[in-house]
Amino acid sequence: MRAIFLGPPGAGKGTQAKRARDLFSIPQLSTGDLLRQAVKEESELGLKAKGYMEAGHLVPDEMVIALIVERMQQPDCADGFILDGFPRTEAQAVALERELEERGTPIEAVINFRVDPERLVERLVGRRICPNGHGEYHVRFHPPRAEGRCDVCGAELVHRPDDHEDQIRTRMRAYDQDTAPLIAFYESRGVLHDIGADGDMDGIARRVESALKSVS
Ligand code: AP5
Repeated sequence: MRAIFLGPPGAGKGTQAKRARDLFSIPQLSTGDLLRQAVKEESELGLKAKGYMEAGHLVPDEMVIALIVERMQQPDCADGFILDGFPRTEAQAVALERELEERGTPIEAVINFRVDPERLVERLVGRRICPNGHGEYHVRFHPPRAEGRCDVCGAELVHRPDDHEDQIRTRMRAYDQDTAPLIAFYESRGVLHDIGADGDMDGIARRVESALKSVS
């Protein structure tokens, strides 16, 4: 199964990609996670990407394309993958299409997450993350037992620098301008599945599962 999870910031792509990863036993490739790891390691790529990410802007295409192509070449991707947050521009979509055409392994499904924009801001402003990888919390929808502390390891939870309202609005503008046109791009390829993603996570997961099973 080779799938793309497409949608605005906070649409639930990451949440649902992790569930689908476990269900289909294929890796979830998140360019956001790969870039954040590069920033943490202070690699050359990370140092270049940091400013764009913290301001809520897209990282330049050539950097992201090189990163994801390298990741897709790793052995765990042989039976497929879920792309979470890539592609985000037409140039990225075209580069991906070329790369997969050369391998004879095209994208089989694109899940388009549709959410009310005001809900996105609420979801992202309240998100808090365990710095040791024990998951995500939300100050209102999924609060930790002790305020500001991870339930699993007790570490102080992190508020992503781009999860503040100004940066969220910048990310939403980048989505409207550069990423939303990909809906038509993939519709024209006959692989688009629209999913209403306003409701509860289990209901959304069932709709995603059924769309992915219809092509696998
Ligand atoms: P990235 O990390 O990809 O950020 P994003 O797309 O803005 O994604 P998010 O993680 O914010 O949202 P999501 O849709 O995954 O939602 P999630 O499941 O986490 O990218 C960050 C930055 O990296 C970009 O701004 C850019 O700078 C750079 N970048 C990355 N990829 C790039 C690319 N291809 N090209 C160029 N630059 C790139 O959920 C969000 C919150 O909502 C969570 O708290 C969750 O618990 C909650 N939630 C989820 N579903 C529900 C639900 N149904 N009900 C209630 N709450 C929910």
